[in-house]
Amino acid sequence: MTETDFIPSAYKNDVKEGVVCYKSPSNIALVKYWGKKENQIPQNPSISFTLDACATTTQIAFTKLEKEADDFSFDLWFEGKPKEDFKPKITIFLKRIEKYLPFLKSYYLKIETSNSFPHSSGIASSASGMSAMALCLMDIEKQLNPDLSDDLFTKKASFLARLGSGSACRSIEGDIIQWGVHKETEGSSDLFGIKYPYEVHNNFKNFHDTILLVDKGQKQVSSTVGHNLMYNHPYATQRFNQAHENLNKLKSVFKKGDLVEFIKIVESEALTLHAMMMTSMPYFILMKPNTLEIINKIWEFREKSRTHVCFTLDAGANVHVLYPENEKAVVNQFIKDELVVFCENQQYICDRIGFGAKKL
Ligand code: DP6
Repeated sequence: MTETDFIPSAYKNDVKEGVVCYKSPSNIALVKYWGKKENQIPQNPSISFTLDACATTTQIAFTKLEKEADDFSFDLWFEGKPKEDFKPKITIFLKRIEKYLPFLKSYYLKIETSNSFPHSSGIASSASGMSAMALCLMDIEKQLNPDLSDDLFTKKASFLARLGSGSACRSIEGDIIQWGVHKETEGSSDLFGIKYPYEVHNNFKNFHDTILLVDKGQKQVSSTVGHNLMYNHPYATQRFNQAHENLNKLKSVFKKGDLVEFIKIVESEALTLHAMMMTSMPYFILMKPNTLEIINKIWEFREKSRTHVCFTLDAGANVHVLYPENEKAVVNQFIKDELVVFCENQQYICDRIGFGAKKL
């Protein structure tokens, strides 16, 4: 598929007003997306577990205008209050997707959104937020054109979400989503995420992700600045190749249920992401001392307990602790006994692998 496949032909229906609402989850990358080209095209393929508890709920009430406006007409409410400072980001998003949703300037949109997780938890809401919004807009398009197939609906929702935030394209469905062209993965695309199409062993069903909130402060580096650091980065080419190789390795890991190899790939990806930030110009250290304390505790505990608990990181200090369902009891006890002390205000979020966004 190409971009032009997402430009609709004339709409059949005339819809005056309506309300749509979606709840969309966050996701946690196993192979990381870090580095992008023009138009939100990733420099390398990535793969993630869709999450369940960390989610954004977005409702859009839409009303047809007397005549098409020159600009977008919308208001944004966040957690029950008008939120002017989110509007520029939404305007940029609407500009990027206008070509694919030609109805946008014909409606006034009242967008109301809220997160299941605390706003200043250091958890990025862009994946859940942009995917929820993309789904709401697709739902409006489906009312204008009821012939739209389910397959195109899902692909286009992911395509639009990507234009809002790259990783958001991995939040439409679950439970494992791959995004970005990877030669060895049939159907993979730079334009949208696809459900991981190969066999997955039961070991990876119901996987858990406990998110330890080490630092709830504002992000030190915005994702746009971060991705741009991969331009002219001395290790960029090797890194992008490594992501392809790690996806190849994951294929047999998922098939065999090989938790030991899984851990090696996932932890190496997390540390490589941070290594890229430490070796770019300008350079950043986004881990905090407690991030390292937690990592060392996990390694120690894993060795001692012979469990398969491991960690991954996003572009921040929080630690995602990943473990299989059958080790839940022992790992949860370990988290409470030994890791929670390293969290800001002892805060953490128990999440698990999920199956994608839901219409409410
Ligand atoms: C480190 O999707 O937030 O979480 O496309 O600029 O919105 P933009 O970036 P974003 O980047 C996420 C980077 C990451 C890794 C990942 O989720 O793959």
